[in-house]
Amino acid sequence: MKNIVILISGTGSNMKAIVQRAQSQNWRERFQASVALVLASNPNAQGLAWAQENGLPTAVVDHRAYKDSPNPRHAFEEQLIQTIDPFKPHLVVLAGFMRILSAETTRHYAGRMMNIHPSLLPAFTGLNTHQRALDAGCKFAGATVHWVSEELDAGNIIDQAVVPILHTDDEHSLSQRVLSAEHQLYARVIEEHLKQ
Ligand code: GRF
Repeated sequence: MKNIVILISGTGSNMKAIVQRAQSQNWRERFQASVALVLASNPNAQGLAWAQENGLPTAVVDHRAYKDSPNPRHAFEEQLIQTIDPFKPHLVVLAGFMRILSAETTRHYAGRMMNIHPSLLPAFTGLNTHQRALDAGCKFAGATVHWVSEELDAGNIIDQAVVPILHTDDEHSLSQRVLSAEHQLYARVIEEHLKQ
């Protein structure tokens, strides 16, 4: 059985979409995989409560707990790895995980860690992607699933989903359209990967 570990920080709607797919009939048998852990970097993440209510194994590694360490990021990531690795993950799925990981940690999970980014990479890395796409006058927006590498939002692209930008769009309406596309895209990409 291939273990999937999903990392979240907030709403967790992508995690929810993936879990719902993974809980559908015959999924475990078809893909020989299951969601072994949902890990949140924030104890108040909405997605964490949903995962608990749905009987999934959960963990919290609160990045704020390490703020007084000599090297807070290192201490946080060390705990992250210690929490994830006992599950021997086939795949670590970043789904709205709002911490930038060090090169050391990305190397540790090289080829096993995916992220979803709400733009058509390589355009609009970083934050505020929807407003930036609107400001640039783009006619299309979308989302990208990519392997996580040392450079932020720059790992190899696995797949993308494209949505139109309407002349009536604002940041909210565009983000909702992209997010719906993300939910389809991420689950599909994970399934494709598990089939290999
Ligand atoms: C998504 O837009 C994702 O692309 C970005 O953060 C957002 C997370 O949303 N990385 P959710 O927590 O999955 O609802």
